[in-house]
Order: sequence, then structure tokens, then C-alpha cells
Amino acid sequence: LFSRPVTFLRGAVKLDDLPPTDLPEVAFAGRSNVGKSSLINALARQKQLARASGEPGRTRELNFFDLDGKIRLVDLPGYGFAKAPKKEAERWTRLTQNFLKGRPNLKRVYLLIDSRHGFKANDDAVMKEFDVAAVSYQIVLTKTDKLKPAEIEKCLAGVAAKISRRPAAFPDIIATSSAKGDGIAELRGAIAVLTPE
Ligand code: GTP
Ligand code: MG
Repeated sequence: LFSRPVTFLRGAVKLDDLPPTDLPEVAFAGRSNVGKSSLINALARQKQLARASGEPGRTRELNFFDLDGKIRLVDLPGYGFAKAPKKEAERWTRLTQNFLKGRPNLKRVYLLIDSRHGFKANDDAVMKEFDVAAVSYQIVLTKTDKLKPAEIEKCLAGVAAKISRRPAAFPDIIATSSAKGDGIAELRGAIAVLTPE
């Protein structure tokens, strides 16, 4: 699947901008700066497909990427970022929530967690919402290149214990580094399974 090019389809700032629901979609959610856009670039083997930045709050729209007309990757704005104008942040937070809870073709949400920090309070709140709304999600640890192998194992164990009782959480956790490429092939494989054929 990922041997084909990934292309930018459109950015959405309101419900009317969302593409039709004719293709399966997977979305990348998580706190600001956790590495959502970088992960999409790593999956796509393109450096500047999704705009990544050291400055939190970079992604301010729902960005849709097409993978060979088979599935779409959706780069979401991050949460937990207070520096953007309040009105704008509220608007994209509302759109993101509506999208995540009401999108019939959304196959899975990848919920990104910085492996250095683990779950924060707003991650717990988001997971609770997903559990209540029965939105299937899978945890992806990011930036594992910043940790030693033993620290990655510790983070994996801690995260696994925390999601074990969460009804909508997929039990497998994928540890990734967009910088070094670790776990990227595994994530590509997981996404390919969600695509028909
Ligand atoms: P928002 O759009 O603001 O919500 O952020 P985001 O989650 O899309 O994060 P983004 O991909 O823009 O990355 C944020 C910062 O983390 C950038 O400086 C990236 O270079 C850095 N980063 C992302 N992935 C990795 C990684 O695997 N390893 C390391 N070391 N840095 C990373
Ligand atoms: Mg981003």
C-alpha cells in the first residue's frame, strides 16, 4: 500500500470542507507537538508533505491525505495548546471532536503519546470520550529515539497497564520514531490491514 505516493487532498476548517465519506480513513490525534505531522511524513517517506514544526500548534486544520485512492490519512490539530487565538482554537477543537465522533468511514484513530512523557490529563480525557463514543483507537508512542531501550520498555508497560481496562482501546501499542524510522513499517502494516483488498 505505502509503495504508492501519498498526496495532499485538502484542509478542512469547517464541516462543509470535509471530503465525502466514500473511502476509509485513519486519523492521527494527540497533544500539540507530539509528532502527528512528522509521523505522516515518515509513513509517506516525504519530508514536507504535512507541515511539522517545533512550535506547538502548527497544524490548524484537518488535513486529508490520499493514499492511492484506497485510504485517507487525516492529520489533526493537537490539543493542549493555549497559545493560538482562543476563538480559532475552539473552532478547530469543535470540528475535530465532531469529526472523530461522527465519521462513519473512520476506521481507527491513532492516538499519539510522547514516549518521554506518557499520558497527560488531557490524553485521559480524550480516551474517555473515545470510550464513551465507541471510537476505536490505538496508542502510538512517538520520539522513541530520545529514550534508551529499557526506558521504552518501561513506557510500553506503563501505557499497556493504563489502557487494559479501556473498552475502545486497541491492545497493541506501536513504538515509533519518525526521526529514526523505528516502528514505521509496523504502523504501515497496521494501516494496510484496514484497507479493503
Ligand atoms: P501540532 O501540529 O502542533 O499539533 O504538532 P504535531 O503533533 O504535528 O508535531 P510535529 O510533527 O509538528 O512535530 C513537533 C516537533 O517534534 C518537531 O520539532 C519535530 O521535529 C519533532 N519530532 C517529531 N517526531 C519526532 C521523532 O520521532 N523524534 C524526534 N527526536 N523529534 C520528533
Ligand atoms: Mg501537526
